[in-house]
Amino acid sequence: MKKNWIAPSILSADFSKLGEEVESVINAGADLIHFDVMDNHFVPNLTFGSKICKDLINAGIKTPIDVHLMCEPIDNLIHDFADAGATYITFHPEASTHVDRSIRLIRSLGCKPGLVLNPATPTSWLDHTLADLDMVLLMSVNPGFAGQAFIPSVMKKIIDVRQKIDSSGYDCRLQIDGGVTLENINDISVAGVDTFVMGSTIFNASDYDTIFKDILAKLS
Ligand code: DX5
Ligand code: ZN
Repeated sequence: MKKNWIAPSILSADFSKLGEEVESVINAGADLIHFDVMDNHFVPNLTFGSKICKDLINAGIKTPIDVHLMCEPIDNLIHDFADAGATYITFHPEASTHVDRSIRLIRSLGCKPGLVLNPATPTSWLDHTLADLDMVLLMSVNPGFAGQAFIPSVMKKIIDVRQKIDSSGYDCRLQIDGGVTLENINDISVAGVDTFVMGSTIFNASDYDTIFKDILAKLS
């Protein structure tokens, strides 16, 4: 099993002081900084583009940026985020006409590709992609908004995908996104997740060092 990684989603940060917010969660122990890129088309919400990623990296942020594209089309944005310095770029198969091509594009630009499966999207998408992926992201809410409740049926999906990854022998992380809290993170970890996106649980906490300690205590 890989080391657990915590990926705070800046969707729930205070954008009026984004640089400080990112620095604070990195000092508290963030392993990745999760970027929820929404286009008000693929999902019913609108967030930000690659300039924010570039500006944070230019400001000296060294922690890898994990870009979750909830946009359609995606290939132009893949170029933008790769240029901006993203490490992981993940996308939904429904948003790309040529999924294999988009995966290869991400890799060819020096980034690590990941595929994102919505709660109702079948895991069979992995049958012909897993060998080329560095990350599988399972959505445990319908994408678009922070602060939604974890959908319990995703637990079985985590177990299935963990089994697929382990039996394949590929070096691929299993990430969860949506409704992860102090109450459910241990069960999610036991089911097989190694990378935890957390928006409101982290950014709504009054002290980031304390919330990271509480999260890690649940995982030990
Ligand atoms: C949902 C986003 C998530 C979201 C998670 O569309 O992809 O990353 O920010 O937020 P919480 O942890 O509050 O569910
Ligand atoms: Zn996300």
